[in-house]
Amino acid sequence: MLNFRCSNDTSILHMPKVKIDDKSIECDKGTNLRKLLVTHNAHLYNQNSKYLNCRGIGTCGTCAVEVIGDVRPSKPGLLESKRISILNPENIPNFRLACYCYIESDVTVIKHNGFWGELNKDNETA
Ligand code: FES
Repeated sequence: MLNFRCSNDTSILHMPKVKIDDKSIECDKGTNLRKLLVTHNAHLYNQNSKYLNCRGIGTCGTCAVEVIGDVRPSKPGLLESKRISILNPENIPNFRLACYCYIESDVTVIKHNGFWGELNKDNETA
């Protein structure tokens, strides 16, 4: 005899959205943030870092972005923390390396200024 159960969990039906600049990109939960942004030609890299980056192996730091929303891991691990600590002189909040982050829910991504994205746009004077 077959036994089917229905789940009331509708969270599996919701595809997270990643907002960056004027784009809103839907993706599967667990998608790597860097891969998603590169695939959709979103603004992840500044200046020549578009060409001079480590392609997501986590060593260059040029994919640094502010991430507002849930990603996995929720906090940077040891290697990511070390890399970020030298890249964030202006203490941008929620500063993460996109290649280390996996989407868990709707997320807003802000690429700040500077080669690595280390210069906070909010600190600019008009
Ligand atoms: S792409 Fe180089 S650290 Fe993420």
